Amino acid sequence: MIEKIHHIGIAVHSLDGALKFYRDTFGLHVHAQAEIEDQGVKAALLTIGDSEIELLQPLSAESPVGKFLERKGEGLHHICFQTPDVDADLEALKAKGVELVDQKPRRGIAGMICFLHPKASRGVLVELATPVD
Ligand code: CO
Repeated sequence: MIEKIHHIGIAVHSLDGALKFYRDTFGLHVHAQAEIEDQGVKAALLTIGDSEIELLQPLSAESPVGKFLERKGEGLHHICFQTPDVDADLEALKAKGVELVDQKPRRGIAGMICFLHPKASRGVLVELATPVD
């Protein structure tokens, strides 16, 4: 099922400000950047070896990441596990009664993705992703 940690998601107030640190100071390569309307975020993925850092800036204060920032401030937002078949894994988790955010995989910056409910994973928001070309 899970192959590796695909990325760590970090909520930030300003993507440009965060890139000054992660890209310019650390020298990490930005390999994708996009606005994802249905998640209400502007996001960038930076490569670290086989894994990535995902920076998330909310498009509005009412979006899930906007509310997260309001409640907790900037910082670790979620951890994403890579799987070869997000559809099959989501169905398997449903069958085991795991609490979910998404009932179906959807398109995200990391491929086809879904989120589990943090209650299921001891307070950590977990994303599953199957990369697509
Ligand atoms: Co993510």
